[in-house]
Amino acid sequence: MRLTDEERRWLDGKAGHAARRAMEILAALGEIYDAERLLPIRSAQVSGVSYANLGDAGLELLEAWARDGRAACPATLNPAGMDLVAWRELGIPEEFAERQLRIVRAYAAMGLRTSCTCTPYLVGNRPAFGEHVAWSESSAVTYANSALGARTNREGGPSALAAALVARTPAYGLHLDAARRGEVHVRLETPLGGAADWGALGAVLGARAPGRVPWIDGTPPPEQESLMALAAALPTFGGASLFHVAGATPEAGLQPAPTDGFAVGRRDLDEACARLDDGADGLDLVYLGCPHATPETLRRAARLLDGRRVRVPLWIAAAREVLERAERDGDAAAIRAAGGVLVADTCFVVAPLRDRFRRVVTDSAKGCFYARGANAMQVRLAPLEACLAAAVSGTMVPRPGAAPPVARSADRGPAAAASAPHPGSTPPAPEAPASAAVVSREHDGTTDAGPWRGRAIRRGEATGTTLVSAEPLSFYGGVDPESGRVLERGHPLEGCSVAGRVLVLPTGKGSTVGSYALVRMARAGTAPAAIVCGVCDTVVAVGAILGEIPCVDRVDVRRIPDGRPVAVRGEEVVPRD
Ligand code: F3S
Repeated sequence: MRLTDEERRWLDGKAGHAARRAMEILAALGEIYDAERLLPIRSAQVSGVSYANLGDAGLELLEAWARDGRAACPATLNPAGMDLVAWRELGIPEEFAERQLRIVRAYAAMGLRTSCTCTPYLVGNRPAFGEHVAWSESSAVTYANSALGARTNREGGPSALAAALVARTPAYGLHLDAARRGEVHVRLETPLGGAADWGALGAVLGARAPGRVPWIDGTPPPEQESLMALAAALPTFGGASLFHVAGATPEAGLQPAPTDGFAVGRRDLDEACARLDDGADGLDLVYLGCPHATPETLRRAARLLDGRRVRVPLWIAAAREVLERAERDGDAAAIRAAGGVLVADTCFVVAPLRDRFRRVVTDSAKGCFYARGANAMQVRLAPLEACLAAAVSGTMVPRPGAAPPVARSADRGPAAAASAPHPGSTPPAPEAPASAAVVSREHDGTTDAGPWRGRAIRRGEATGTTLVSAEPLSFYGGVDPESGRVLERGHPLEGCSVAGRVLVLPTGKGSTVGSYALVRMARAGTAPAAIVCGVCDTVVAVGAILGEIPCVDRVDVRRIPDGRPVAVRGEEVVPRD
């Protein structure tokens, strides 16, 4: 990758420690993804703010960067682990709050704006069509690319921070025209309702067309909230960080419809909803605002709650600036009068709510996915109106055919809660046989004896036994950092531990906080010994670099057998006897 004289000075450490570390990350990513140069960016949006996700490992890393790092472009933060003002009212422990405030102070010292939201485009950080930015919150990335026509890769938290410190990002992936074309034509054969339906659509597309850019038609132009819900769900469930909707998103009309494709009907959406329903027979939290609520959502909620009173806790999260507007408009007062709680700076996934709420109803498919993994909640996806009706009545009518309620992991004690898979999943089987059984079905007849050669993402040496998945994995929410066990319900590796294994994946998926999760796991001794990917995504690449985990990609991972002792050396994966 070509660097300017100024960029080379930063890389040589002439502008301080943080600028040098930032350039090391960006230069490594540029080399990995064959970028020709760095691009100037208009703004950054940085994930990795909640202490619940970063732990002490992330806190120490940020405080080291804050000694001399300063943002060189406008930059905002993703949600933190608590409301930064009203954290006591939300029952956040003092020790957690003290560390959370240190994280926010470190970012503030670097000149980042400390409005902590996953909807920066609602509070002034709204890029124009064609502008290059470096954002990391997966829903915001996908919304910026799709609804605004801005250009950003799905950065890891550290790579977005690196980009903020030098106002540059490598020119590859979604910054270039070639990656922005629709790849699969999705014909909607059913009318879609609000955010719950659009989130379910994201779950369907993520599963049926993993990593491919959908070009969608058959719908009137959706509301902003529907596009936000699709933008949140699509990457969560394995899809791309870009979609096009004919007649609604700015790049859809600039290209022909893809020839390859499939139809999506009501049955597909219902099945996706059923997979996001743990069959709980009650509820103790109703949550709206994933992604953070728009002013229009707050207005709708205020109207639907008018003259009513909630019987179970109702939380609605939004950017602090959006809540200030709702205060002026009277919507905040109406929601509070009904007993609702308005929350800024955080959400029900990144706040430490494990053991406080057990059964949540929400209109967010993304929220369902991560609330299971991050806070061990039983979940149910429902439209906004049904969520608010449930908050008022205190009950939720079971879905027809919903699974019976299951024992929650926390009911089996704290140790089990930390390492158990999702509610409703089968108990973990012994590691190698469990994964081998799944993988052998997927790869029957396609493995070989190796060695396998690819490209070193993070050069190093490690030995271990392969743990092979035919499906992508999210290190945030999908893996318990304390134990290394895979939590994602229905994942081929569910219940297996990645600790000390040579983890073989097609690619990574899910939240960009996954980079910090890998750093945490490396410090805790629960990280894989090495990672081998077909295509290494930014999140895994940055996590491997910072966590010093050997990582190789550009390998045909279908050829690697599960349960095989191997050594990873540089760009090679070599069998051992
Ligand atoms: Fe935002 Fe939290 Fe959802 S960060 S997208 S509200 S999981």
